[in-house]
Amino acid sequence: MGSMKTIVIGSGGREHAIAWSLARSPLITEIVCIPGNGGTATESKCRNVGIAVSETSSVVEACRKELAGSPDGSFVVVGPEDPLAAGISDRLAEAGLRVVGPRMAGAALEASKDVAKRFMHKYGVACAASDTYDDANAAIARVREINGPVVVKADGLAAGKGVVVAPDADTAVRAIHDFMIDNTLGSAGCKVVIEEYLEGEEVSILAAVSVTPALAKAGKARIVPFVSARDHKRLKDGAEGPNTGGMGAIAPADGVDEAVLAAFRVEILEPTLQGLIAEGFDYRGFIFFGVMVTKVGPKLLEYNVRLGDPETQAVLPLMDFDFAEMCAAIIDGSLDSFPFAWKKGYVCAPVAVSRGYPGSYPKGLPMTIDAAAVSKAGAKVFIAGATMNQRVGGARSGDRAVMDGELVTSGGRVLAASAFGPTVDEARERAYAALKSVSFDGMFFRRDIGLPGAAVSKEM
Ligand code: AMP
Ligand code: GLY
Repeated sequence: MGSMKTIVIGSGGREHAIAWSLARSPLITEIVCIPGNGGTATESKCRNVGIAVSETSSVVEACRKELAGSPDGSFVVVGPEDPLAAGISDRLAEAGLRVVGPRMAGAALEASKDVAKRFMHKYGVACAASDTYDDANAAIARVREINGPVVVKADGLAAGKGVVVAPDADTAVRAIHDFMIDNTLGSAGCKVVIEEYLEGEEVSILAAVSVTPALAKAGKARIVPFVSARDHKRLKDGAEGPNTGGMGAIAPADGVDEAVLAAFRVEILEPTLQGLIAEGFDYRGFIFFGVMVTKVGPKLLEYNVRLGDPETQAVLPLMDFDFAEMCAAIIDGSLDSFPFAWKKGYVCAPVAVSRGYPGSYPKGLPMTIDAAAVSKAGAKVFIAGATMNQRVGGARSGDRAVMDGELVTSGGRVLAASAFGPTVDEARERAYAALKSVSFDGMFFRRDIGLPGAAVSKEM
């Protein structure tokens, strides 16, 4: 059918899931992953190009070359937040390319907590009360005054290390001291947001966004939410242990009923859309609403300007539409008439990590995946932190054949096994059956992804 070429920028599990979703579209003939990972290396229609995401100019140049002479509909999907915050979408657009991912101005909604909170307050988005401080003493005075649970957030991008949920003033003061005086996060901690502590259960709502001044004028600017999802941030079962980048996701999330969704639309989504329009942003891409479902309704914790990881690995397999067509609709501004539809059922996506994660962990460990067993379980393995070994096959290492194109671990979060089921229990059973056919030294995973309450920590 089609003959479209696409490019996916990023190297995580989210990007593997995006590439896999694109590969399933009959419109797409070729997917270039920059740099991709050991999963995209062998994914259908995919080819990796080894340029680091942080090398903005090289990435833009590679995209330009790869798409030169491609059919008009070809596009680039930017996966992670860092290149978006660095303005890669602006650069790609200047190079004449079609891109899924907001421009730098919109990306500041994730890159700066201060910008995000000002935006929320300005446009009346339901969220925690907050104030921003660039003076440590003033921030300390404020948390002493609150004298109870409070949340301290470093302003800048800090890879998940910039938020401290403090049960008391002393803990909050320590966080302020770390961020603003000891500069443990570098310039990301020069400003802090002091925020009201919210109690409840968190849910991730990913959404497609198509907003430009022209679309707004034509009444076609839209944010369309996907099915809800829930990440499980703590390392261990029962939401114990340290925070991580995410130990697994379930979609849809329980406890997100029609009433919550209706309140979310009215109090969070709609004012966000009006804000994006009022700011005059060119925001065509994805937005991720990190929402706390409190007793008095949903409140926004944060915006991410991209899809979530590992939520994407649970949400995209529920799509009953063509992902490539949706990307085109985002770019062309036709989300208002796009036929979104979702499978009835659940996807559970537990993540396997390397022993030691989220602290230091070994890399380069060989990994085996019994593909037949994974497919028998009805699951899909999305690779996150693993690369394809380039050693030539046939040699033996210890008691094990070293295969050409063997997977070796390269990150803390190594992979997710995503499985669909008509019920949560069936989705869980299939996902965990698939994980049994994966092995690498020191492999660790939570066993309770998707169970009720599994994402809620007893401590704060
Ligand atoms: P953020 O990066 O802003 O989403 O914060 C990271 C995590 O800190 C969230 O996923 C929540 O678990 C927690 N958190 C952030 N803000 C608050 C808040 N106001 N009240 C309670 N927990 C919060
Ligand atoms: N799962 C949380 C995130 O993607 O930031």
